[in-house]
Amino acid sequence: MTQLLEMRGLTKTFGPVVACDGVDLSLDKGEIVGLLGENGAGKSTLVKMLFGIYEPDSGEIYFDGQKADIDDPGDAIAQGIGMVHQHFQLVPPLTVAENIMLGAETVSHAGPGAAVGVMNMAEAEAEVRELSNRFGLVVDPSAVVEDLPVGIQQRVEILKALNRGARLLILDEPTAVLTPKETDELLKVMRSLAETGVGIIFITHKLREVLAVTDRVTVLRDGKYIGSAVTADSSQESLAEMMVGRSVVLRVDKDDAEPGEPVLQVRDLRVRDDRGSDAVEGMSFEVRSGEILGIAGVEGNGQRELVEAITGIRKSEAGSIIFGTTDLTNGTPREVSEWGVAHIPEDREKDGLVDRYSVADNMVLNTYFKMPFASRGLRVQAAIRKWARRLIEKFDVRPRTITSPVSSLSGGNKQKVIVARELSAENKLIVASQPTRGVDVGSIEFIHNQLVHQRDKGKAVLLVSAELDEILSLSDRIAVVYEGEVVATLDGATATREEVGLLMAGGSSSA
Ligand SMILES: Nc1ncnc2c1ncn2[C@@H]1O[C@H](COP(=O)(O)OP(=O)(O)OP(=O)(O)O)[C@@H](O)[C@H]1O
Ligand SMILES: [Mg+2]
Repeated sequence: MTQLLEMRGLTKTFGPVVACDGVDLSLDKGEIVGLLGENGAGKSTLVKMLFGIYEPDSGEIYFDGQKADIDDPGDAIAQGIGMVHQHFQLVPPLTVAENIMLGAETVSHAGPGAAVGVMNMAEAEAEVRELSNRFGLVVDPSAVVEDLPVGIQQRVEILKALNRGARLLILDEPTAVLTPKETDELLKVMRSLAETGVGIIFITHKLREVLAVTDRVTVLRDGKYIGSAVTADSSQESLAEMMVGRSVVLRVDKDDAEPGEPVLQVRDLRVRDDRGSDAVEGMSFEVRSGEILGIAGVEGNGQRELVEAITGIRKSEAGSIIFGTTDLTNGTPREVSEWGVAHIPEDREKDGLVDRYSVADNMVLNTYFKMPFASRGLRVQAAIRKWARRLIEKFDVRPRTITSPVSSLSGGNKQKVIVARELSAENKLIVASQPTRGVDVGSIEFIHNQLVHQRDKGKAVLLVSAELDEILSLSDRIAVVYEGEVVATLDGATATREEVGLLMAGGSSSA
């Protein structure tokens, strides 16, 4: 194989933080390299330097045998480097073809006499069809982007990069937003792209995916290059150990649940989504103290609306939500939280944090007005700082500073701030939506143990997760949802991956 990329000694600092410290990374044509490391290890920073978002303090990049000078993303794209961001950069009301053609070198594709700037829809769609056939990525060129599921939108982003001539593709946690089925499809797409010679840098925390699709892995820790390994010689355990520097227990150890009184009762609940269609269509279930109820389901089957109704963010149309003996159907978020409900929201950027506030202020986001953080209406900074310092230590938030704005943290460390805050407050019910999304293996182990610990302390836990492994390893009971209804409730100790997977897809468990 011929080398496509070589990064030598890349260094990037942010004030006192050395995000990347002399990192090397190489990639051959047609190779898929997994870039692994704990939260804050420097993975995103490294690829942002490659894509021209950050300027390296020092180090060199060789692309296709030439020393590359990449000043900005436009430069990167012109040289054949594409990146798919986690927040897509598509124009939602436009079609797939329009999005792919936008910003491409239209002139070079246009025949003589074609008006530059005016898109010929038929031609654009034909071109997209050709592109999608060539790379084996199926899309409908005339579909409107905002109507497409996330997995297909991501495919449009990939096609857009390929249409601009990408020979190297950077994927920074692309599967974090995908359902298990969409993930499998993406992995297939990656394989077929690699067969056409495209090199791929793939960042993920999910070791199953690393083993399934990469040829080689490179591991970073604390901004430093730790090593590389051939995937075929690796296991989940060996990769986890390389990332974290100790062996990680990938299974959760827990005793049988000892459920007590019902803490949450949901009866015949109906909730609409943003478009006004029924998303939750008559769900009933209960969560008792001392147990973890897992809600399993492919995303988009009503889970989001269910959680929003429970936490008071969204109005329900019918049915009831009862906490203990208190009816809080259509209660406000404040009332729900005052009753004793902790919430780890699925969209941390939107609902869980205030980006410009410090880590310390985010740790007391819903308690800053209470004792001991406030006294006679005044904030008690010393108490807030002490609390925040304790939590970042316990939950291993890196770097260990409570004064920096949350916006400067890596994705996984932001998640740890929310988890720390929500699991440490005095609560009776914990609603955890995708609690470990974007979190590294060592921290997943910790968060899982914490959830079990909370259960053992007698709290009720409602776990909503698209990760089948997470559902299976934590739940005492599993409620499978499909099209807005609970289609089955299974015993967590005996349920199998196959059984739950089948129910999630709309099958029946007796099949
Ligand atoms: N714009 C920034 N300003 C200040 N510090 C930053 C900035 N971007 C990153 N950092 C710091 O650099 C370090 C590396 O962050 P980076 O986002 O590269 O980690 P990561 O490996 O991608 O982690 P994750 O798995 O959580 O996404 C972290 O300590 C982070 O706090
Ligand atoms: Mg990152």
